[in-house]
Parts: sequence; C-alpha cells; structure tokens
Amino acid sequence: MNLRFQLLRSTPNHSTTPISLNPGNLNSQSLRPGKLIKGSLLIGISLLGALFAGPFLFSSCTGPQESPATGEGTRDFSEFYESSIDSIIGLLTLDEKIALLHGNGKFTSAGVERLGIPELKYTDGPFGIREELMRDSWAPAGWTNDSATFLPTGTALAATWNPDLARDYGTTLGSEARKRNKDIFLGPAVNIIRTPLNGRNFEYLSEDPLLNARLSVSCIEGVQNQDVAACVKHFVANNQETRRSTLDVIMDERTLREIYLPAFRASVVEAKAFSVMGSYNKLLGSYCCENSFLLNDILKEEWGFKGAVISDWSATKSTIQAAESGLDIEMGTNGPYNEWYFADPLKEAVLSGQIDTTLIDNKVRRVLRIIFNCRVLESDRLEGSINTTEHSETAYRVASEAVVLLKNEGNLLPLKTGELKSIAVIGDNAVRTHARGGFGTTVKTKYEITPLEGLRQALPENVTIRYARGYEKTTRMANDGRLRIITIKDQDPRLIEEAVQAAKDADLVIFFGGLNHDFDTEGIDREDYGLPYGQDKLIREVARANPNTILVIIAGSPVDLSEVEPEVPAILWGWLNGCEAGHALADVILGRVNPSGKLPFTIPRSLEDSPTHALGNFPGDGDKTEYSEGILVGYRWYDTKNIDPLYCFGHGLSYSTFSLNSLKTDMTEYDREGSVSVRVHVKNEGPLPGMQTIQLYVGGPGTEAGSGSGGGTGSYVPKPLKELRAFEKILLNPGDGREITFRIYAGDLAYFDNETRTWITEQGTYTLYAGFSSRDIRQVTRINIQ
Ligand code: BGC
Repeated sequence: MNLRFQLLRSTPNHSTTPISLNPGNLNSQSLRPGKLIKGSLLIGISLLGALFAGPFLFSSCTGPQESPATGEGTRDFSEFYESSIDSIIGLLTLDEKIALLHGNGKFTSAGVERLGIPELKYTDGPFGIREELMRDSWAPAGWTNDSATFLPTGTALAATWNPDLARDYGTTLGSEARKRNKDIFLGPAVNIIRTPLNGRNFEYLSEDPLLNARLSVSCIEGVQNQDVAACVKHFVANNQETRRSTLDVIMDERTLREIYLPAFRASVVEAKAFSVMGSYNKLLGSYCCENSFLLNDILKEEWGFKGAVISDWSATKSTIQAAESGLDIEMGTNGPYNEWYFADPLKEAVLSGQIDTTLIDNKVRRVLRIIFNCRVLESDRLEGSINTTEHSETAYRVASEAVVLLKNEGNLLPLKTGELKSIAVIGDNAVRTHARGGFGTTVKTKYEITPLEGLRQALPENVTIRYARGYEKTTRMANDGRLRIITIKDQDPRLIEEAVQAAKDADLVIFFGGLNHDFDTEGIDREDYGLPYGQDKLIREVARANPNTILVIIAGSPVDLSEVEPEVPAILWGWLNGCEAGHALADVILGRVNPSGKLPFTIPRSLEDSPTHALGNFPGDGDKTEYSEGILVGYRWYDTKNIDPLYCFGHGLSYSTFSLNSLKTDMTEYDREGSVSVRVHVKNEGPLPGMQTIQLYVGGPGTEAGSGSGGGTGSYVPKPLKELRAFEKILLNPGDGREITFRIYAGDLAYFDNETRTWITEQGTYTLYAGFSSRDIRQVTRINIQ
C-alpha cells in the first residue's frame, strides 16, 4: 500500500470537472491578458521607435527560453527584463508612476492603460483563493463562480514537515490564483508561533525558523512557477493580534535575526519571493511599513530583495517616511484612493522636492518587475486551473500527512472494524466546516468533508454510528466595544446527558472537539488556553462512560489538553485541515493511512509554562511588548529551562515503529568555514509501511545536557539547549532501512552577536541529537569546531 499517494475517492458532492469562469464577471482585458495587452504595448513601441523595442519585443514574442521558464525550481527575477523596465519608466508620467504605487480598489492597484499594462490583482491567502469581494468594499461580490480549493491551513501544512508537499500546495494556490485572474497571492504567512493564544496561529506555520523557512521556500516556488507573485507576510513580528495596529515590538537584534527573520530571509534570498507584506505592528519604535532598518537595510540592501514591499491593508502610516524607508505599494481598505499616503500626498512630496524622483522610479521598477516576472504581458502566460481533482488530491495528501497521532495506548488506533458494532461520534467539530471564517481567509469551497461524513463513507456497513453533539458553539463577540470573544461556559445539561448515553451504548467513542474560527481567527487573540464550551468536563464524563474514547482535536493553535489527556487512551490532532479533512481523518482512524504528522509547536501543560506567558510578555504593556524571552521561543525555552511539556515540538506517533542508529559525522574536527556531513540509519521495524521524520538538533558549546542549566555555560554565550538544524521525511516499507545524510555548514551554527552585529561560530564542542521529536532523541554525537 503506497500510503503517500493513495488515490482520492470520488465523493457525492465532489465535482471532478474543473469549473470555468464566467466571462461576464471579468473585465475584457483579463480573459486573455497576453494577447490584448501585448498588442497594445506593441503599438506603443512602434510609435516610440527603437527606444526600447529590442529587448521588449524579444521578450514578448519569443518562447519560454528567453523569458523565465515555468515549472520546477526557483523563479528568479530575470535580468532579461531590466532594460525593458528602464524603457517603460522613461515613458511614464509622474501620475502614472504614482498610480502604480497604491491601491485603486480593495484588491487592485493601477496599471498603465495607455501602454496596455493591466491592473495588478491581489488575492488572499494563505490557504485558498479568497472569494471575490466588491471592488470598493469588503462585501462579497456575489459571484457564483469564485469557489476554490480549500487547502489545509498553515499549522496543518507545517505538521506534514514535508517541503515537497508545500511545493504542491503552492502550485495549487498559484494555479487557482491564475484561473481567477490574480497576479499577487497574499501568502504564505510565515510568522513564528510565539504564544498559544495568537488568533492567527492557524494561518502561520510553526514555532521554529528552519521548519518555517523550508516550507515557505517550497510554497513560494510553487506559487511563482504558476506566473503569480507570492507575497510573503507579515514582515515582521506580527505574533499577536491584540493591539496589532499600535503595538511596538521590542527585541534584541539577535532574537530578530535568529528567530523572526530566517523564514523571511529564505523566502527572499532562496525562493526569490516577488513581494513582501509589511506588517501592522511596530518593530523597535517604527511601524514595519516605515521601518528603514527592516525594509532598506535588511530586506533590500542585505538580502538584495528586488521585488516590492506591499503594506498590509491600511498599515501605512505616512508618506515621506514610508516612502524613504522602503515601502513600495500602499494597499488598504477605504477610499478615496487618491487621498492615500502613496497617492496625491506622494505626488505632492515629489513636486515639492521632498522626495526625489529616483526613489519613485525605484519603486516603479519593483512593481514592473512583478508584472514582467509574472509574465503578465506575455501571450503564453499560464492560465491555471481551479477545483480540479488534482488540487483535491493535493488537499488530501497534505491533510493526511498533517494528522498527528499524539497518544495511542493499547493500540486503540487504528480501529479494528471487524470487532466493532457501534461507534458514538460526539462533538460539534464532527459536523462543523471551517472553510469560511477566520477573517480574511475565507474560501468559498465547493465541498468540505466533515469528520462525521468521512467516517460515514469509510466505515463498513456493519458498524453503526450514533452522533451526539455534546456541546454547542456558544461564542459571541463582546458588546463592550473591545474586540474579544465571550464563551458561555454553561452548556445545556441535556446535550451532555445525550452524549454520555451515546458513549455508554457504543463499543467505542470518537470525540471531535477543540477550537473553531471563533478562536482561530485574525483580529483577536484567545483569552485563555483552555478547551472552550466546557469540553474538559464533557470529555471526562464521556471517557468515564466508555474508556475506549478517542479524542480528536480540531484546532489550528495549541490548546490545553492537560485535563483531558489522562482520561483518554488515544488522541489525534486533526487541524483545520481543508476540504478533504474528513477523508484524511477517517483514513487515519481506520488505518488506511499511517499517521506521519509531527507537531509544529509545543503543547505546554499550562500557559504559565510557556515563555511568553511565564515572563508576563503577553499581550504587552500598553502599546509595547518586550520579547524578553529572546531566542528561547517554543521548544528552545522548554528544553533549556527543563520544563516538561505535555507534547513536545516534533512529536507524532506512527502505527509502525522505527529505529534510528549509527549517527556518524564524516570527521570530528571542523573549521569554521567547513561543513559537516551527518549520517544516520533509520529503519521501519514495524508491520506497516509508514513515514518518519528524522530530526537533527544541534546544541552549541556550553549547552550540553547535564553540563548545567543548558542555555550556555561558562564563558560561552547563552543559547538554547538544542535547535533544529535539519530534518527529512521518508517513507519506508516494513523491514526496510535507509541511511540519511544531512549536510550542516558550520556557518549555520553561528549565533548573532549583538555587540559586533556579526554572525559568530563559536569554537568548541557541538552536540548533535538525532531523533523522531525534539524529546525523542535516539542518537547523540559530538563534533569540535575550531
Ligand atoms: C491581513 C492580511 C491580508 C489583508 C488583505 C489584512 O488584514 O493582515 O494578511 O492579506 O488583510 O485581506
């Protein structure tokens, strides 16, 4: 059985025919952009003679060997277009240039009609193409042909630990964006998960910069290979929603460089993201959309970013400061558009000599780079496809690799259906869909398989299912003027009684609980870490009524399981897992898919155990929050401080068992310029094919477990006990083994020194830990770096 590429079954409400867009809903230019636009631009060219005809004509009329090839790999900014861009800049009036630099609709910014350059069209993001909105308001446009594939959300993608899948995920998004005639995809969202309470955790990826970087790079490559620009967001430190528009995030440069920047850096330097979204908050006193240190010094100078910095919606706070600090495009929410900072006021600033035209030209160049590199003007620009079987298969593959088996006492899972007659399915999340909600992330999915539907389709006929809701979704917005949610804790006792009775009557219980988009949402953070709606009590009563209770958590963020964990023998984490969520879960529950997901975040036993909360750093003091936990984010904190989490970062069981042996490096002594080749042997010792993720962590000099408190001792700089430096997910058949090789550069083991503002690889002994989670370490070895 090839678990990884198991084919999607057809489902009653799953259309396998790609829908076609209704031309009536698209403007005339957008249908065949290349043909129309190229024609009008060529007229411009012929009128203007040889000014820029050479390279531009060449690029317009020739095939993919001259313009960047579509397909696998990284799509870099092509040098080939630069002279055409120069020529176009020379043709533009100031008004035309300014128009390119701000929105002229909620999700559009102007092109240059005279030259046949169309508007840029943006779409959210980050796990499906958002439904079409009215041009000038947030109201749905009311289209009937704007559905899209609902992919698993960010933390689910991260739980796969599979960059190849992230590439397919990006390809799906890019292709659907094209079919909906979009140019810029507002994603991926790669902020670090710093607190369990952040409402947007579900959109983000993980608590680890390396995992985020690897997934982000692949996702961006996938998107951009479809002739769509990715817009990696939110740059940077948008790690909470509370007061996000005024919050000043204070952290030292080492923390910024080691934890919060790497995924953005990799997105820009490796994946060549065509655009970056500046976040709402401030960093070190300046709003991120007018933060010269961030945008000019780091992003553009140091990383060589050639694309455009786009403001988050209404995150721009000034004209001159933002323009000079590196913002390129202002996007926002409410008109009149000409009054925006980067509209009339920007023009005024140029005319009055406060801003130099070369600065404007530089921004225009960046916008034109997006247009050219997305091949907006080319007749063979990819047209994309939407809601296809292939896209559903991608949703399914991600969903099924995302499911995490947290606990499986007595091998209760997978179900032995031959021995079962009845199952009680309990919980609101058994029947709840999640495509819509979460604020900007709404996807008008064609279908979404709920867990209950998935089970109904998958279970043999001899097994009866009885469903009891057990609790109600009793959340509402507070009406006290604050943006917060209120959960009514007291539940209808009749629902509890019904659930307990169903549990008693059944051979086995599957409880689908957790959160929903009332909690996993943009704009609001959760007020507490607990399971809402009295689920702790309900789960306890259900589990006591029937000890064969499997708990399935549906949530995009960490949630407190400390009360219920001892009550149940088996726990799965099912995420907000896209349109195929129910199929994926049912297949894992029945053993058609061997679970291989790994937690992308720690689940602490209490909120107070977590770094942000232990130090009282959330949600901050007034409009300021100090990241005084520094680099000790996520498992870096728990490991270093020796705090036992309920489930650690990287944890996830399989129905098979694996061994890890023979961890070796090619040498034991290295110099600081060198690279270390690390080999380890992994074997599937169990009865089933399965995937395993081999995780390699490294602790720098002075961190050795048992050498003190971790965190760097003696004359060494403080550092985490260990940090993820490499990982690989592989599929192994029973009895099969494989040697995995990782290459680690000594330079990648450096810390950032705040004093000298340089990366330094310390001399000394480094400990290498190989395992199947951050705490399931099977092999340890040491090397010296001189
Ligand atoms: C969000 C962005 C989103 C934008 C457009 C903002 O509120 O922070 O992530 O892309 O809206 O919907």
